Amino acid sequence: MDQIQALQQALIADAAAAYPGHTIVHGEGAHTAKLMMIGEAPGGDEEKQGRPFVGKAGKNLSSFLEVVGLTREEIYITNVVKLRPTKESPKTKKLVNRPPSKQEIAFFLPYLQQEIQQIAPQWIVTLGNVPLRAVTEDAKANIGDYHGKALPLASGQTLFALYHPAAIIYNRDLTEVYQQDLQTLRQALYANGKASI
Ligand code: URA
Repeated sequence: MDQIQALQQALIADAAAAYPGHTIVHGEGAHTAKLMMIGEAPGGDEEKQGRPFVGKAGKNLSSFLEVVGLTREEIYITNVVKLRPTKESPKTKKLVNRPPSKQEIAFFLPYLQQEIQQIAPQWIVTLGNVPLRAVTEDAKANIGDYHGKALPLASGQTLFALYHPAAIIYNRDLTEVYQQDLQTLRQALYANGKASI
């Protein structure tokens, strides 16, 4: 068992006590990845399959990978919160997604920090405010200020913040910004015509 598998086992035990009955969606991908992508929390498809970024979010991920010229197997993909946050829809009475709570983020943050330490990627790509704030440890960090720029972290890693793909669905103006940001990331990854990862 490697360190990541040990961390996953510990998380399963801790989450079973704190959040009984929930499916835990672990990170997946290469444990030696140079690029780690961090989302917010799993949705319904991810919960069903027990894997991050499948279904609709997986399609978004595929277009991201196409632009930056990487495969899913080459990178490591995870979420800040590793269970699906839900609420009951007042209309349909069905469970729908909701943003993760402060408590959920605080509970899962130490596992994300260990994951980052163990994978030790060169690049950390965050999607939206939740992972941006988790990685910068700045609760006031705002994606509007951070997106589309390579930012060196004290750890020596480079942070590249992107909008959350769901934000683009609800705000069409952001589509162009998101595409520009992806191009900037691609250029940063392939600086001097050479892949830095
Ligand atoms: N699916 C995930 O796994 N994470 C997200 O942030 C969104 C969809």
